[in-house]
Amino acid sequence: MTLDSGLSGPRTGSQMGELGLIKKGAVGIKGGEIVAVGATAQVLKETEIDERTKIIDASGNVVTPGLVDPHTHLVFAGTREDEFEERIRGKSYQEIEARGGGIRATVEKVRQSTREELVQLALTRLERMLRYGTTTAEVKSGYGLNLNDELKILATIRELSRLQPIELIPTFLGAHQIPNEFRERRTDYIELLTKEIIPRAAKERLAKFCDVFCEEGAFTLEESKGILLTGKRFGLTPKIHADELSPYGGAELAAEVGAISSDHLVYTSLDGVRRMGETGVIAVLLPGTSFFLNSERYAPARMMIQEGVPVALATDFNPGSCMTESMPLIINLACLKLRLTPAEAIVAATINAAYAIGRGGEIGSLEKGRLADIVIWGFPSYRVLPYHFGVNLAETVIKAGEIVVEKGEGR
Ligand code: NIG
Ligand code: FE
Repeated sequence: MTLDSGLSGPRTGSQMGELGLIKKGAVGIKGGEIVAVGATAQVLKETEIDERTKIIDASGNVVTPGLVDPHTHLVFAGTREDEFEERIRGKSYQEIEARGGGIRATVEKVRQSTREELVQLALTRLERMLRYGTTTAEVKSGYGLNLNDELKILATIRELSRLQPIELIPTFLGAHQIPNEFRERRTDYIELLTKEIIPRAAKERLAKFCDVFCEEGAFTLEESKGILLTGKRFGLTPKIHADELSPYGGAELAAEVGAISSDHLVYTSLDGVRRMGETGVIAVLLPGTSFFLNSERYAPARMMIQEGVPVALATDFNPGSCMTESMPLIINLACLKLRLTPAEAIVAATINAAYAIGRGGEIGSLEKGRLADIVIWGFPSYRVLPYHFGVNLAETVIKAGEIVVEKGEGR
C-alpha cells in the first residue's frame, strides 16, 4: 500500500480513498531512503543487491508506510484512572476539572518530576507506540504551565528524540489551562506566555508549532488568537484544540490565523468546516477521545470530506481524555464512529497525518526518495486493519531503513 496517488498535498474528497495498491509488490531501501517501489521483479532489477543486502519476505502480508500520530500529549507523569471511574459513575470531564482534577492534576505531578523521570515514563510509552506501528509522532507540552516546567517538557521531547527511533515533532501548548496560581489574574499568565515562554521556546528551537486549548473553561477565542499570532511571529505555526466539548468557534479561528491543523472539531458547524476548506486547514480528528469520554458525539467527518477538508487521525494520547498509544485502535474507531471507509482511515493515519505536522513531503507514503518508514502487517488485505480490532497485528516495523521491531515481537 504505497499511498502514492501521483498527487502532492493532503488528500481531499475522493482522493482520500486512493491507496496506491500494488499486488505482489516490493520496496527497495538504501541508507534510510526508499530507492524503488513497484512490482517485485521491477524492484529487484532497480535495486543494487549484494551479499550485505537484507531481504525480508513479506509475502501474504500488507505493507504500509509507518503510521503517523499528529496529536499526542505523550510527556506526562501520573495517571488518572480515578477520573475514569468517576465518569463511569456519572461525572463529566468538566465537573472533574472543576473539582481540581483534570489537566491541573497532571500539572502538579509533572512539576514534581525531574526531566529524567519524564524521559523514563515516556520511553515506555514510545516503545508501545512503535510496536503498534507509529514511526512519527507530534508531542505537545502543556503540563508545566510556567517557564521552567514548560521548557523542561520541551527538553524532555528533545532528549527522547535522541534515545529511541520514533521521530518526534514538538508543539508548545503553554495555553493548555490557566495554572492555579494565576486563576485570579489570567491576563498575567497570558502575558507570561507571550512575552517570556514563547520567545524562549522559539529561540532555543524547542518547538515547531504553537497550540491553544480554545474552549469554555480554558482559553477564549480572543485570548487564543493573541497567543497563536504571537507564536506565529516567533516562527511557530498555529495549531488549535477546537470545538472539543462545545461549539465555540475554534474552527473559524483556525482559518483566520492560518493554522496548519484544527484538532478535535466534535462540535464544529458547517460554516466552520467551510472556512477550513477555503483556507486549507487540515482536520485532525481524535475519535478515541469521544470514545474514552463515553460521549455519543463524534466529529462530523463525512461532512468534512464532502466539503473538501483533508482529514487526518491521531490518538490524542493523554492521561485524562484518551489513554491509548494505539493508532490501529483509532483507525478502527474512525471507521465505526466517524464512518470513514478503511481506505480513508488509512490515508488519514499516514499521508494526511504527515501533512498535519508539516512532514507531508518526506513521510506518510512509500515513494522513491522518501524516508523508509514501513510497517509489515500480519494480514493479507488492508481491510483487516480496522476489522480485527483491539489486538496488535503489526509484525515488523522499519524506521528510516532500520528494523526496529522484529517480526512478531510487537504482539
Ligand atoms: O486533547 N483538551 C485538552 N487537552 C487534552 C486533555 C488533557 C487532559 O485531560 O489531561 C485533550 O483532550
Ligand atoms: Fe489534545
